[in-house]
This record gives sequence, C-alpha cells and structure tokens, in this order.
Amino acid sequence: LQNAKLLFNPFSPRMQPAKEPPRPAMIPIRGVPMIKHFAENWGEVERFQAQPDDLLISTYPKSGTTWISEIIDMIYNDGDIEKCKQDPIYMRVPFLEFAVPDIPTGVELLQKRSSQRLVKTHLPVQLLPPSFWEKDCKMIYMARNPKDVAVSYYYFYQMAKVHPDPGPWDKFLDDFMAGEVTFGSWYQHVRGWWDKRKEQRMLYLFYEDMKEDPRREIRKVLEFLGRPLSEELVEAIARHTTFAEMQQNFMANYRTIPTNVMDHSISPFMRKGVTGDWKTQFTVAQNERFDANYERQMEGTDLCFRLEI
Ligand code: A3P
Repeated sequence: LQNAKLLFNPFSPRMQPAKEPPRPAMIPIRGVPMIKHFAENWGEVERFQAQPDDLLISTYPKSGTTWISEIIDMIYNDGDIEKCKQDPIYMRVPFLEFAVPDIPTGVELLQKRSSQRLVKTHLPVQLLPPSFWEKDCKMIYMARNPKDVAVSYYYFYQMAKVHPDPGPWDKFLDDFMAGEVTFGSWYQHVRGWWDKRKEQRMLYLFYEDMKEDPRREIRKVLEFLGRPLSEELVEAIARHTTFAEMQQNFMANYRTIPTNVMDHSISPFMRKGVTGDWKTQFTVAQNERFDANYERQMEGTDLCFRLEI
C-alpha cells in the first residue's frame, strides 16, 4: 500500500506530465527576427557558396513552399514518383538556413550534393547569401494571400516548437502586420523579391494561381527551367502534388519529424491547403484593420494580391 501510494502520488515528480521546454525567443539578423538556432548558425549561411546550376526556391513561410518543392523535385526526376518517394522533402530540397542542434544543417546537406541542387530558403532578399547573385542562379519565388499566410503561420507557430509562443490570435495578427514574426515582414519579403525579379532569372508564382490551374502553372515552371515534359507527365505531376495526395505522403507531410520538434496533434503541417481559409479566422474588425494596414504597406508597388479569395 505504501508503495502504491508513492506511485500514484500526484505530487511525486514521476507523476507530473513531462514539462514542455521553454519556447526559444527570436534573435534578429540585420533587423530581421530569426529562429534562435538559425541565427546562431548565421555565419555558415552567409558564407554559403552557390553553384550556377543551383535552383533557389524562395518563399515567405506558409506560402506553399512544400508544394512547389514537390512539384520541382518531380520535374527534376522526370515525373518518377518512386524516385521522389525515396526521401523526405527536407532531404530532397534542403532548407538553406536550417539549423537545430545535433542534426545536419541545411548548408551541410547541400554541401554533400555535387550538382543540380534544389535549395529552399525563407530569407528576405537582402539576407540571401551573395553567391546566389554572383553565380546568377535561377530562382522560383512563390507568394500567397497574406491573410491565409497569417492564419497558416499562427497554427504552424503552435505546432513547430522552434517558434516562440504565438499567444492569442489577435496579438499574433498584430505581430504579423508589424513584421515581428520569424523571417520578418511579409510585405517587405514579397516586395523585395518582386523588385529583384527584373534583374534576375526569376519566376514569380502565386499560390492562388497554382490552386486555380496547377497544370498551367506547372507548364510555366517547365518553360522557365527549359525542361520540356510530355502532357502525360504534367498530368502525373499535377495528380501527385494535390493537397490530398501530399497530405497522405509521408515523404512530403513532415510526419517523419519527431514530435518534440513538430507536433501534428496540435495542428497538422498539411492543415487545410485551401484559399480563403482566413474567412474562418478573421473577425470583421481584424479584416478592416488588416486591409487598411495592407494599403499602407503595399503603397507604390505594382505587385497585386487578390485579398478577397
Ligand atoms: P494551410 O496551413 O493553409 O493549410 P509551406 O510549405 O510554405 O510551409 O506552406 C504550408 C501551407 O501550404 C499549408 O497551408 C499547407 O496545407 C499548404 N499546402 C501544402 N501542400 C499543399 C498542396 N499540395 N496544395 C495546396 N496547399 C498545400
């Protein structure tokens, strides 16, 4: 009895639920809030040596990075699904600035590849390692309606524990509008890359267009990459990269990541995959505040988003 009491004593340390380690704070890199471990490894990223045949896939977080990465990897493998299912997406398309203790960094993964590397980044244009410009690498940027990005980011902050605690939605939305989230201001990100496209070999895509007509957008990518594929393969790529397919695909859905890093029971990485989900999250007042702020922050650019879809 004595032992049983000890065992079931709710105050005994053994009976306490495992305590969550504290969420790390962000560390700024040249004024841009960054995930702590990424910032601590910044020197390696800055010195990264790009190669002329690297393809850079650049996005603000939650804009369809994994989706466009899977499409491009399929293109690089001539539509061979089996080849694409050999490794998780974060191995096939290494994340340049990625760093967490005890596992290879993005730079280390990239350095193991000799050619035709696919490189993922979320860096704002001013933080991209200079060698990408010097080597004149091709770049594909994908942007998404910021209202949907903000909602997706809010749930991602909760499940991916490298982020600080997002707090309540209303506060997170204010932080997003102020650029006080990891990778900084969405507005400056999309504008910065949009302006660079004029002087760079860059294809600028939109999540909403991809949703509207994936085959049309895949053909755009093929043309940009100079890799013609048959209509049959375009069809195969479109089918393999639907939300429903990718949600089930363990090599694309991030379910191979340990739960202490990404906890899909809080919110799955492959969450909804739709346009206009913001309408289920924003109040009327938040929407008005967002629109007014959007007008101010996007003043003077010809870059347009269809905010209402
Ligand atoms: P939601 O949270 O709105 O569902 P990223 O890869 O940049 O982190 O973006 C993740 C967002 O893209 C998530 O949005 C995710 O569901 C969505 N997504 C991933 N694959 C998709 C696909 N094949 N089709 C549509 N959306 C997709």
